[in-house]
Amino acid sequence: MKNAILIFLAAFTMASCASNENKEIQTTEDTTATIMRDNHSFARPEEAAVKHLSLDLKVDFDTKKLSGSATLGIENKTGTDELLLDTRDLQIESIVLDDNEATTFSLDEPVKYLGSKLSVKIKPTTKTVVINYATSPEAAALQWLEPSQTAGGKHPFLFTQSQAILARTWIPLQDSPGIKFTYDAKITVPSELMALMSAENDTAKRNDGVYTFRMPQPVSSYLMALAVGDLEFVSYDQRSGVFAEPSLIKKAAWEFEDLPKMIASAEELYGPYEWGRYDILVLPPSFPFGGMENPRITFATPTIIAGDRSLVALIAHELAHSWSGNLVTNATWNDFWLNEGFTVYFETRIMEKIYGKDYADMLTLLSLGELKETIAHMGDTSRETHLFADLDGKDPDEGVSDIAYEKGRFFLNTIEAAVGRDAWDAFLKKYFTEHAFKSMDTKTFLAYLEKELIRGDENLRRQINVDAWVYGPGLPENCPPVVSSELDKAKKAADGFLSGENVKSLNTQSWTTHHWLYFLRSMKGRLDVNKMQTLDNHFKFTASGNSEIQCEWYLNAISTGYTKAYPNMEKFLMSVGRRKFLKPIYTALSKTPENLELARKIYEKARPGYHAVSIQTIDEILNYGS
Ligand code: BES
Ligand code: ZN
Repeated sequence: MKNAILIFLAAFTMASCASNENKEIQTTEDTTATIMRDNHSFARPEEAAVKHLSLDLKVDFDTKKLSGSATLGIENKTGTDELLLDTRDLQIESIVLDDNEATTFSLDEPVKYLGSKLSVKIKPTTKTVVINYATSPEAAALQWLEPSQTAGGKHPFLFTQSQAILARTWIPLQDSPGIKFTYDAKITVPSELMALMSAENDTAKRNDGVYTFRMPQPVSSYLMALAVGDLEFVSYDQRSGVFAEPSLIKKAAWEFEDLPKMIASAEELYGPYEWGRYDILVLPPSFPFGGMENPRITFATPTIIAGDRSLVALIAHELAHSWSGNLVTNATWNDFWLNEGFTVYFETRIMEKIYGKDYADMLTLLSLGELKETIAHMGDTSRETHLFADLDGKDPDEGVSDIAYEKGRFFLNTIEAAVGRDAWDAFLKKYFTEHAFKSMDTKTFLAYLEKELIRGDENLRRQINVDAWVYGPGLPENCPPVVSSELDKAKKAADGFLSGENVKSLNTQSWTTHHWLYFLRSMKGRLDVNKMQTLDNHFKFTASGNSEIQCEWYLNAISTGYTKAYPNMEKFLMSVGRRKFLKPIYTALSKTPENLELARKIYEKARPGYHAVSIQTIDEILNYGS
């Protein structure tokens, strides 16, 4: 029964009632190759899996379309006569097999978020499937920017954002994080622009506009990435550097100068960097995320260029994904905490190694505050607060919250506190090495934790309390305490100010962005317009150019009615598309009829400049279009 497939139906049905059980599809051939059922993909990789992708695409800024072909190298495991792929808003022109052999295909009606299932007739002997297609101008992964939305103002710009399930809006493929493939690509762009992908690249511009790429290590579809624009490169050393628009490149290169140190520190912690080069691409401000860990080339928002290197933890975060996420990948979006929780933990360790424990403690305490707020908001018994998510039937984007990131990180902090740093580091290093280029689901991770670290120790098991963290709500009480002597200073200053101390006598010398954030957060709900005015006169918050401080300040301005900050807030909302900032600001504005009206007015103008990911979120907050 070499090719027999066992499907554990019981596990399937239980999953729909939010059970702790993952759903497994197991091939009897190789019991270690367990493939998790991913309800966000139509693919059936246990039957036929894509192993290699060859792209040949032309980038057309006039029609806002990519067109050309995707050639899929497949492994037909069961002799199936059907290859199932994910697509969304794609125009499929024709499909042929191997050497131009005709075949038939069908494209289903689109399902919300998931798009249209594409079924291609194949033979047991079929090796390649060639799909000729074009994207639509609405493709959610792609943002086509007008020159006016770039720093230079002269050239258009295109970038992709494939995570979580948007790769299917620009490539027909098996769009599930548990499926990995190698790829190569030929991308043709207007000759004055440069193309970059999450693959081996030229760092130099070519005159003919034809760029070729090669990704020899297997990656998941959500890591497919492309950017096209007027870009320059500055190198730090043999393996790292920064791409940015010419007018930004100097500032960007200065801001991220510690990058080589970060890579070296990460390697000292958890083993060699496996991807060759690590570069950063600074995108225009409409990029909906802070950063995206595209292999070999992190995509980053320009809003972390604060001019003082104070927001570079984000780079450590995306770099850390080169291990947690890109090497060892969450099998489904329900296992997202395995990507992000591990990465926040790892990020903080990199920051600690380079900038010291006081610095890392500030990051950790700020995060704990955010996590507590998120849990309070969701409700401390809410299913949403479990680490193991239940996103079936939902957009996996809904799983992007502090739970996966911060509850995930504090779970790992809890294990570290229980077993000691040395044992924990040895465990993590082994975990990354043994599972490199594979995917990981929650149950398998917990079994590995038991086997390698807990090892039947009842006391330790009780001390860690895996179930409370992974399958239970809220913040378990064994979460290790976090103290930050630095942030204590900010808290003291905030309390002092609120109890009438003169603003001029507050000792804010040598404060970093993190002190300021904590200072502002500590006063939440306790400020009024007059106090806001006093703070602004003295510290010039409204004029701040630091995106994190701006966001925090505008939130206080909204809650106190300090309207003097509104013109700058409007400018911020008009120029920045990072969802992390847009979401709280628009949410806060939506709380009173007057502010809601203002929010709608601003959004009406700003919306065309935002990426689809941010638009989806803000449309909901403001009930846009209804
Ligand atoms: N991979 C994420 C971004 C992401 C997650 C995109 C889920 C789409 C779906 C990236 O690594 C990330 O976490 N970015 C954070 C920064 C970080 C420092 C917390 C962000 O963009 O804010
Ligand atoms: Zn991340």
